[in-house]
Amino acid sequence: MRILYLGDIVGEKTIEVLKKNLEEIKKEHHIQLVFCNAENVTKGRGLSYSHYKELKALGIAGMSMGNHTFSKSEIKDYLPDATIAIPANLPCDLGKKVVYIKYNTEVIALVNLMGRVYMNSPLDCPFQTFDSLLKEIQADHILVDFHGEATSEKKAFFYEYSGRVDAILGSHTHIKTDDEEVYKNTCYISDMGMCGPKYSILGSDVSGILERFKTGVYDSVKVSTDTKYILNGVILDLGKVNTIEGFKKEIDISYY
Ligand SMILES: [Fe+2]
Ligand SMILES: [Fe+2]
Repeated sequence: MRILYLGDIVGEKTIEVLKKNLEEIKKEHHIQLVFCNAENVTKGRGLSYSHYKELKALGIAGMSMGNHTFSKSEIKDYLPDATIAIPANLPCDLGKKVVYIKYNTEVIALVNLMGRVYMNSPLDCPFQTFDSLLKEIQADHILVDFHGEATSEKKAFFYEYSGRVDAILGSHTHIKTDDEEVYKNTCYISDMGMCGPKYSILGSDVSGILERFKTGVYDSVKVSTDTKYILNGVILDLGKVNTIEGFKKEIDISYY
């Protein structure tokens, strides 16, 4: 089974880019299922219901989130029926800790966890949380989006659970790493990177973030309006022998 997992989608304009390009990308890479991290879709923070529906209409099977899960509070209303895995170690009773996706005769379990190093969220231990989830998950394949800042924590999680899940894919930093590997048939990358405007600082407007760093004075951060887009992620081939390769595509929308 070939899966495209896209890293953090930044800004609603990226949905338009996907509308025009995703089918062709799927054809080119023989992709059967698409997943994404959707924590930054709506104005760079959170996911509105209308944008969730647009991503679903594109055929995105499952979505994972992160520290911006509840930045758009309407998500609380539509989470119960959504194919969205929220960080399972958030100490709340909302949403799904495991999302099951059926593809032909196979079932894929999607889990989202957050790291605790350099993350300013109240979180249970991702290891203890995942230990209990593993006891209840029944699926042919298990995918984990590990949303965190520290590569050491992501790598530690990888070695703890390699051989027990199909993929552990890092998100949150918005910078794609070049360390794809497979160990004990578990695919890994420290960070899938982001999908959004290229001339940006992690997707946000460059001048606004520069001002913030230089003077400490800043307004709310806006998504960059650059017309060059970059899509980052990974392509997984899951079977008896699992493989992972990096995915990266640049698209100029000034011609649209
Ligand atoms: Fe993000
Ligand atoms: Fe994040």
